[in-house]
Amino acid sequence: MDQAPWWRNAVVYEVYVRSFLDSSADGVGDLAGVADRVPYLSDLGVDALWLTPFYPSPMADGGYDVADFRGVDPLFGDLAAFDALLATAHRHGLRIIIDLVPNHTSSAHPWFAAALAAPPDSPERDRYIFRAGSGPGGDRPPNNWRSVFGGPAWSRLPDGAWYLHLFAPEQPDLNWRNPEVAEEFAGILRFWLDRGVDGFRIDVAMGLFKDPGLPDIEGDDIRAKRTDGPVWNRPELHGLYRTWRRVLDGYDGDRMAVGEIWTDAPAELARYVRPDELHQAFTFDWLRADWSAAEFREVAAGALEATAPVGAANTWVLANHDVVRQVTRFGGGAVGLARARAALLATLALPGSAYLYQGEELGLPEVTDIPEDALQDPIWERSGHRRRGRDGCRVPIPWAEDGVSYGFGPDGVRPWLPMPVTWSPLSVQAQDRDPGSTLNLYRRALRTRRAEPALHGAEFRWLDLGPDVLAFTRSPDSAGPGLTCVLNCGTEPVPLPPHTEVLLTSTRPGAAADGELPADTAVWLRTP
Ligand code: GLC
Repeated sequence: MDQAPWWRNAVVYEVYVRSFLDSSADGVGDLAGVADRVPYLSDLGVDALWLTPFYPSPMADGGYDVADFRGVDPLFGDLAAFDALLATAHRHGLRIIIDLVPNHTSSAHPWFAAALAAPPDSPERDRYIFRAGSGPGGDRPPNNWRSVFGGPAWSRLPDGAWYLHLFAPEQPDLNWRNPEVAEEFAGILRFWLDRGVDGFRIDVAMGLFKDPGLPDIEGDDIRAKRTDGPVWNRPELHGLYRTWRRVLDGYDGDRMAVGEIWTDAPAELARYVRPDELHQAFTFDWLRADWSAAEFREVAAGALEATAPVGAANTWVLANHDVVRQVTRFGGGAVGLARARAALLATLALPGSAYLYQGEELGLPEVTDIPEDALQDPIWERSGHRRRGRDGCRVPIPWAEDGVSYGFGPDGVRPWLPMPVTWSPLSVQAQDRDPGSTLNLYRRALRTRRAEPALHGAEFRWLDLGPDVLAFTRSPDSAGPGLTCVLNCGTEPVPLPPHTEVLLTSTRPGAAADGELPADTAVWLRTP
């Protein structure tokens, strides 16, 4: 239908590997488990999978602490299991995007072991960010930066030197001003491209370069200021991503990269997706928006305006493994679920690509009552038990109605995070046979999106249907009818604009048949 590269309109499904399917009976999901459910994912109707890190790792941060960037942790399988998954996915027409973690290594990485064994000012230490401490005897950290997870961003070695870690102490930050680091990562890109991966999701893509002077920041929260500060979104990143783009462009088949880039401004985000840089950058403002038509419109309009001059497509996302699940964010319970279903239709109708997070197709809520002694996210310990962290959105997928792990693993094997006793009706098995289930809504929406020429056209127009309503029309590039998406964020039904057919509603079929759209509902309409 369209000639654009596959990723411009793709729907990508994030697989949080540890929580998808446990095929090896150790309570943790693995690559063979993902391969086993490729038919499920292909039937769901997504175009690609993003796999979270599966590399050898001590798992201090769920695998985002990588000890070997070219291998597979035995917990998840081995390189042969990876190759088998890639082949199975490709056979089913699904592309594979893997997670690249370039901001830091694990403290168990051979480079960090070499740095610890080497003296101050050695080439081994120059791969990381080592500094002398401040204060008398250098007893205080070199600056006032606090880790994203809580606590100081510096740890001290027995020999008195301090090293920087924006995340956990087990995740020392690399020194991207050292050419050896850049060379190593170009090699890592090639290693996986040669194996056949279709793209990379770049972890903490806005954090690799720090101001070399490492000046203090204002305030406590290192995430507060993401523009013109010493930590995030430094200009040097753009040169690096141009070199990565050239590596990707050297391969056939539209290999791509999507950046995890948290910014304060859409215009800043757009700079990363200029034609010779990254292909995509997540529009995180979309998942930060409250349940408000005005806010959704401000975010979407801002993102569309910012990317138009650089010719990039937008990348929409409502959820990932770092944020509270949307059912809960939007109010929880039946209302939260109705809103999450409605928000999906808005997300999938916007121009560009969309990323889904495993379990959102089941309408899973955040699990807010995981017992404290079962929490695994380093945030819990690092924050001095003030922040529970992100485990609540990482609970394993319920596949079957019965069993201690609802078919996540063989029966009797306890999953790595406990699963709520109320999840049987949310399981894939239960939802599969219910035409009104969230799972079947996702399947219908993805099928419609794929087949619908209007959702692949360039023309986009906002409609004004009142302050509580988000509404826009898409039109196909060749002659043909349009598609209008209407989302009612208010508390009262609203009249629908003129249309010839109701293609899809986020609740039950027929919900908009009388020309009115109920509250917390979205609809796709055929419009002239
Ligand atoms: C990214 C990941 C997150 C991880 C962090 C450190 O934000 O999405 O899960 O903890 O980077 O690697």
